[in-house]
Amino acid sequence: MRTVAGWDKVKGPVETAYTLPPSCYFSPDIYTSERKRIFSGGWVSFGRAEDLGNAGEYFASTVSDTPLVAVRGDDGEIRVFANTCRHRGMQLLSEGRGCVRQIACPFHGWGYALDGALTATPRMKSSIDFNKSDFGLIQISSAVREGFIFVNLDGAAGSVDDWLSGFSDLHQPWNLEALRTASQREFRVRCNWKLFLEVFNEYYHLKKVHPGTFGSLYQDPDPPEPITGCFVSQFGEHVKKGSVGVLEKDHNELPLLPGLTGRLSNGTRYSWVYPNLSFAASRDALWMLEVTPIDPTETQVRMRLMFDADVMQSRGFAAKLATYEERMKIGMAEDIVVLEAQQIGVSSQFARQGRFCPELEPSVHAFQKWYAERMSAVI
Ligand code: FES
Ligand SMILES: [Fe+2]
Repeated sequence: MRTVAGWDKVKGPVETAYTLPPSCYFSPDIYTSERKRIFSGGWVSFGRAEDLGNAGEYFASTVSDTPLVAVRGDDGEIRVFANTCRHRGMQLLSEGRGCVRQIACPFHGWGYALDGALTATPRMKSSIDFNKSDFGLIQISSAVREGFIFVNLDGAAGSVDDWLSGFSDLHQPWNLEALRTASQREFRVRCNWKLFLEVFNEYYHLKKVHPGTFGSLYQDPDPPEPITGCFVSQFGEHVKKGSVGVLEKDHNELPLLPGLTGRLSNGTRYSWVYPNLSFAASRDALWMLEVTPIDPTETQVRMRLMFDADVMQSRGFAAKLATYEERMKIGMAEDIVVLEAQQIGVSSQFARQGRFCPELEPSVHAFQKWYAERMSAVI
């Protein structure tokens, strides 16, 4: 058994803890262990139920390099299957979204109902002892909570409600389940998946990296919520009253989300559901990021802008949406420059474990502590 020196130094309180050993951000061996322990062995975010509004609508992507498809059945249930044909292993549906009446294999034409049952098997009559019921799609553990779909590949992660313990109550004012996606885009960043989510969950870089956009919009945030589930969340009030989602506030600001009152009506909650889902729930919008590691130094990102469903129907929404998109694009571009340089620096033989700013980086520490505890059991 190999040990990563310095693993234990991550686990103390934020005031004394060290950051993760740099090898966690580039080592192929650690990446292999992550896939097993974090991405196969835990609950992983896999899109939004709203995308699968009707029977037959599906979303295909990978978790831990394993092709999966989430599909809504005729009975209204969302199920997740291995996206692999039971005949000779063909990938059934290409990555992305679509709508099918049945899942038909493009290779030899085996067909599966939306509940995974094998229903069509051309020219198989003369095969002996072949029962279709033995060759249904492999179903993966899945659950929908607050509109997010979660999957657990190895089926041994325990209850999703333990994983998300406290999540629903904490986010209830934002009514996450009712929010709808107005726009989304996918892109790749040349950095480790952890770096990408870490920068989204700390306030320390804002002044330096986003001086013209959101460098001075937030007050110092509250400490992270005391949480037992596998996520971290910090709320922070805005400096000025109003949206932090647009650059030109006077003309384009959307109304307050209906459930927000008091302090919540002028702030943003940054939450990170381990390992791969993070969002900023603000007064008027929610920015969601879902990541898929491509390899140790490259990350696929699915980014969404989400709003109240009624507001999306309102007059002039499209023009206002464009300004929210523009602001997010500028901010993301600023982060990506830093992230790709951080990946280069952290991959150096001279990179060392660093220290945290306790007020402005506690969520990064909370994640790294969770990660170190989970990973050090296997490394
Ligand atoms: S591999 Fe799917 S029908 Fe042959
Ligand atoms: Fe940033």
